[in-house]
Amino acid sequence: MGVKRAYLVEGGYRLRGEITISGAKNAALPIMASSLLVEGPVVLENVPRVKDVETLIELLQILGAKVTWSEGGSLVIDASELKDSTAPHELVRTMRASILVLGPLLARTGEAKVSLPGGCAIGARPIDLHLKGLEMMGAEIKVERGYIQAKARKLKGARIYLDLPTVTGTENLLMAAALAEGETVIENAAREPEVVDLAKALKEMGVEVEGEGTGIIKVRGTKSPKSFSHRVIPDRIEAGTFMVAAAITNGNVTLKGARADHLEAVVGKLREAGIEVDQQGDSLRVSSWDRPRAVDVRTAPYPGFPTDMQAQFMALMSIARGLCVITETIFENRFLHVNELRRMGADIRLQGQSAVVQGVPYLTGAPVMATDLRAGASLVIAGLVAEGETLVGGVQHLERGYERFLEKLSALGARVKEVEHEVPEDG
Ligand code: EPZ
Repeated sequence: MGVKRAYLVEGGYRLRGEITISGAKNAALPIMASSLLVEGPVVLENVPRVKDVETLIELLQILGAKVTWSEGGSLVIDASELKDSTAPHELVRTMRASILVLGPLLARTGEAKVSLPGGCAIGARPIDLHLKGLEMMGAEIKVERGYIQAKARKLKGARIYLDLPTVTGTENLLMAAALAEGETVIENAAREPEVVDLAKALKEMGVEVEGEGTGIIKVRGTKSPKSFSHRVIPDRIEAGTFMVAAAITNGNVTLKGARADHLEAVVGKLREAGIEVDQQGDSLRVSSWDRPRAVDVRTAPYPGFPTDMQAQFMALMSIARGLCVITETIFENRFLHVNELRRMGADIRLQGQSAVVQGVPYLTGAPVMATDLRAGASLVIAGLVAEGETLVGGVQHLERGYERFLEKLSALGARVKEVEHEVPEDG
């Protein structure tokens, strides 16, 4: 038997009060990687202290950058002196987003050696489109013994059509284009707010970028990228997670820093389900008094309903009035939370890429296991409303992307705490 950490959630408490939304992990990661483009200090504000950020700090240090947290809580990265080094497998396997160093390293030094990120619980997660785009910019890329070896004397601007609007693929190519000769046009680019935030940081570095947030982004490379400071946008998925937590507990919660304009699809679906959502200045207020109505959801690239909110929304729909269909179009295996929700009494049937959710009047607490970041959030949310106690294992997934998650939930009146529990060795 082994001892593992878990979250113990006692159901039945309405969430009330106010919390502040942290900086967006998925904006901070590419912008941290973009500091490799600059010989000098880059100062980043509002970077969340989560495991994925710590992992990328470790990787940047392996590559030779100096990284420190300032007194005021800013992250200062100085990549003036880079070493000829590799992004190692043992680190990349813990965080696929490490692939984000490939583009900037190649642009800055003319070569990069990065472990091929494996798949993960939610899918194969290939990076073929990243590599194809870099080759179109003149890179020579070999994939040998699990490592990507990329070389480019000088990257040249190119017109690149992405078969899929890949988020980190768009970000890698934006960073490669930042120092390339001439103009790069990325078509069918990802439109996520995190991509727009990276584009803003590149402009602060002195790169000409236009069209970010649309499907066509144009970049003119610069010969003299300069040090910059940047404040990372709030985390729309953390905000969406707490909106669903407020809704499922019939609570009344104010989320400081949450931006409705980054969450239109989620806000729209919550309102359709009968939840009240109001933007009040720089805060979002969410309240509800009754079981939600069942509403169908289909995930899609931004500005569609985010795949990163699918599991959380399914928890809410599991106690809705009526039947709904939730379709996952982005990842091939992002229903691992379904079996766990079923253990809590949810009535969900899988049909290919769709989950048919028949709302039930109540869930019951049970020991469950998180398999990825958002599945973990979904199980904690279900535990908030389930009768009795829910023990959520696999909390290391949650700690990758939620800053002070238990602290924020407790501040809103949830009864949650971290405990240790015995699991069979293979658990
Ligand atoms: C980003 O992952 C996010 N991660 C994910 O959040 C998010 O779920 C995902 O975008 C979709 O919104 C970060 O930003 C660090 P994709 P990414 O490339 O870039 C296929 C979280 O919880 N594809 O947009 O890896 C791919 O298989 C994480 O924080 C290719 O086929 O996602 C997937 O089906 C989970 N070839 C689809 O595109 C490629 O070269 C979307 O993937 C690249 C992607």
